[in-house]
Amino acid sequence: MELDPDEVPSLYRTLAGAVVPRPIAWVSTTGPDGVDNLAPYSFFNVVAVDPPVVMFAPVNDDQSPEGLKDTPRNVAETGEFVVNVVTESLAEPMNETSATLPAGESEFDRADLERAESRTVAPPRVAGTPVAFECSLYEMLPVGGSTMVLGEVEWVHVDDAVTTAGKLDTRKLDAVGRLSGSSYATTAERFAMERPP
Ligand SMILES: Cc1cc2nc3c(=O)[nH]c(=O)nc-3n(C[C@H](O)[C@H](O)[C@H](O)COP(=O)(O)O)c2cc1C
Repeated sequence: MELDPDEVPSLYRTLAGAVVPRPIAWVSTTGPDGVDNLAPYSFFNVVAVDPPVVMFAPVNDDQSPEGLKDTPRNVAETGEFVVNVVTESLAEPMNETSATLPAGESEFDRADLERAESRTVAPPRVAGTPVAFECSLYEMLPVGGSTMVLGEVEWVHVDDAVTTAGKLDTRKLDAVGRLSGSSYATTAERFAMERPP
């Protein structure tokens, strides 16, 4: 199969089906009205280490007045968000928070998730996530029909339970990734390869 992006109705299935597994940013924000918002975004990655910058990229929302989903709108208005890492035991509540809720209702309450206080930003963390990155807005960049949100990591929480000898242990973290559609991958199976010198 050969695909010319100009000739197909959408490249979504191909992009999301081939760029796998995608890490999931479970992003908490607090709106100017004080309502805590929580939503998963799998167009997500690390951009830089020094300074530490992560990014996620919501598709724009034509139905909302500002053209943005709640998460990027809250980030634009408050300049703050938290990226919570999704583990296997949190996959179902994560999925629940992708529902569109009426204004004023928090996904934390809908999914019965406990909040944990953040240190440097107002939005709460998801209490059960072993790793969370508190971020301040670095830049918001329109990219076609999406908006790339770049955040500088201001504080990191790592549960001791996912560390070995004082370092984050990916094996203990048990993060999940998104495949295409409703499929997900765990990080349970792995193999090692030494890099060439
Ligand atoms: C695992 C998962 C990953 C998702 N990734 C994205 C994404 O990268 N971009 C996007 O626009 N929507 C994504 N969504 C859909 C949003 O989570 C959904 O539109 C949500 O209602 C947005 O919430 P908000 O308006 O509170 O920000 C994803 C959903 C799931 C379940």
